[in-house]
Amino acid sequence: MIPVILSGGSGSRLWPLSRKLFPKQFLALTGEQTLFQQTVERLAFEGMQPPLLVCNKEHRFIVKEQLAARKLSVQGLMLEPFGRNTAPAVAIAAMKLIEEGRDELLLILPADHVIEDQKAFQRSLALATNAAENGEMVLFGIPATRPETGYGYIKCDLDDRSNLPEGINRVTQFVEKPDEERAQSYVESGDYYWNSGMFLFRASVFLDELKKHDPDIYDTCAAALERSVKNGEEVLIDPATFACCPDNSIDYAVMEKTALACVVPMSAGWSDVGSWSSIWDVLEKDANGNVIKGDVIAEDSRNCLVQGNGKLVTVLGLDDIVVVETKDAMMVAHKDKVQDVKKLVAKLDQQN
Ligand code: GDD
Ligand code: MG
Repeated sequence: MIPVILSGGSGSRLWPLSRKLFPKQFLALTGEQTLFQQTVERLAFEGMQPPLLVCNKEHRFIVKEQLAARKLSVQGLMLEPFGRNTAPAVAIAAMKLIEEGRDELLLILPADHVIEDQKAFQRSLALATNAAENGEMVLFGIPATRPETGYGYIKCDLDDRSNLPEGINRVTQFVEKPDEERAQSYVESGDYYWNSGMFLFRASVFLDELKKHDPDIYDTCAAALERSVKNGEEVLIDPATFACCPDNSIDYAVMEKTALACVVPMSAGWSDVGSWSSIWDVLEKDANGNVIKGDVIAEDSRNCLVQGNGKLVTVLGLDDIVVVETKDAMMVAHKDKVQDVKKLVAKLDQQN
């Protein structure tokens, strides 16, 4: 099994710590290791090959530094000149492996998630392997508990056992990023899982489905890979060809459309730590429910996340507030509003 780690996102919701040149996956948000290092280390078990990494070429030195710091290795770096979202990223990885005659199972992994229970993760993976070997496209489902609009929602048919091992169900509906009303109704029905963003399938199965459902991406990626420059373990994707590639995620391009999707439930302490409030969720709190990092004094404040990165930060009489201080920027936001931090980043981009 070949893990393919996707590390091209910019993580704008975690500004001001996460920056375009230093995105979320390269930060130690939840412990001593960065999310990227944790993702690679999580794969150190039998049957798993070193990962193939797909990332932006601007990040190649950060990647190498972070791998070396933990004595970790990868089997290759596929360097994108710019992001075209996850469908092309997975396509170029799958095509490269097929080119090498390696039509193996690919475990697609985001580089920026937390999984607390390693054993439960491996149990779900073991269950998924059988199905993927039989040509299925396996999703890992997290029971949906709140109407989060940034996720994919999966409904499955509990009675359809056709050709699927025990514990795996056929997907009857996959909806990527529904609006709030629909997300609310999915959660209330109790019938939906969130898509974790991890997938398991054979390289050729994915490429056949991509060719069927989004031939433009398939053709452009094939051409871009053919014209790419190979340099040892690095493959630099041809910018002129890749620029013509449609921007789309694997979720919209393939997973919403394929008839081959099935789901394995996963209860492994998963979090995509996609916002400051989900970071507050996973970190240890003091007696007042505050998460404090750095040089901070908090008085008469509850359920806050306060992070200093150089200066002394003092807060008084705050509830449910996030304060993040860095060398050149400071952000103060209500915990209920942190999904919109990306709006601040968009404004900032307009000004620059
Ligand atoms: N190489 C590469 N190139 N990687 C990319 C690119 C790209 O252009 N765009 C995104 N990625 C990486 C991100 O760094 C992340 O690790 C992963 O692919 C998923 O991309 P996100 O942009 O974070 O997707 P999302 O969070 O909006 O949605 C996905 O994840 C959710 C769970 O966290 C979807 O799969 C949803 O269905 C899912 O619920
Ligand atoms: Mg994400």
